[in-house]
Amino acid sequence: MQKIEEYVFEKYEYFFYFKGLIKDRGVKAFYQFANRYLYRSFSRSLIKRYAPKGVGLEIGVGSRTISPTRRTILSDAFSCHGVKDSIAKVLFNALDIPYQNHSFSFVLSEHTLEHITNPIKALKEWMRVLKPGGVIILILPHYKRNNDIHRPRTTLAHCIEDYGRNVSANDSTHFEEWYQLVVQKGLMPKHYAHQNKEELLSQASIHHHVWNQSDISELLIYLGNEIVFVDDKLYDRRDSFIVIAQTPFQV
Ligand SMILES: C[S@@+](CC[C@H](N)C(=O)[O-])C[C@H]1O[C@@H](n2cnc3c(N)ncnc32)[C@H](O)[C@@H]1O
Ligand SMILES: [Zn+2]
Repeated sequence: MQKIEEYVFEKYEYFFYFKGLIKDRGVKAFYQFANRYLYRSFSRSLIKRYAPKGVGLEIGVGSRTISPTRRTILSDAFSCHGVKDSIAKVLFNALDIPYQNHSFSFVLSEHTLEHITNPIKALKEWMRVLKPGGVIILILPHYKRNNDIHRPRTTLAHCIEDYGRNVSANDSTHFEEWYQLVVQKGLMPKHYAHQNKEELLSQASIHHHVWNQSDISELLIYLGNEIVFVDDKLYDRRDSFIVIAQTPFQV
């Protein structure tokens, strides 16, 4: 088990991150990062309002974060995503979190749950590490405002079935549908059309599931949470919706 005090991102570490960023990808990459930082002030203010005091966990952080980094452990499954290095401090699979029950005040995750084959299993794991009354903040791509626009939304019944079947991380149930309705419609970069199924699945860029804010609210309520904030179009990440939920105080 990890200790939570050890991995919070100190402000000075940004210096080294930026140094590497400029060296590897140029000043433009630094500008993009800084721009995004300023640009996401709306989401940051929501987190400030709804995340209780104490240490939080960000899951699937990738190369950027809007979390309060002085009190958030940034995590990811992979040290890089596409061509971008992850700024994660700790690497682990979101279905198997190396922290004890009730470790965190909040869990934040942006654009990650849709990449996971068994969303209920993941959410139960995220709830396990939350303190009673802890908060889950999910920012996810809205199916109508990204390349999933032609795909059917994932139902609660489907998520329950995936959980019942205990589907594994390499499950390919949604591959054909994703390939037909996203890749073959030209909604992914061109090289995707020249790769085989195994390669595409291993890159983890497939959205296994496709949602809007009502679907995710329904799922979180089904798991026993109370919804505290919902917006179908996040002001500063407009392809996304946000749902904030609170776990029960009684365990
Ligand atoms: C589309 S990127 C989002 C990155 C960042 N949060 C953002 O919003 O730009 C998806 C992220 O989910 C992570 N991821 C995918 N499957 C995961 C898993 N099973 N456990 C933890 N992280 C996972 C990937 O490593 C990647 O960083
Ligand atoms: Zn599924």
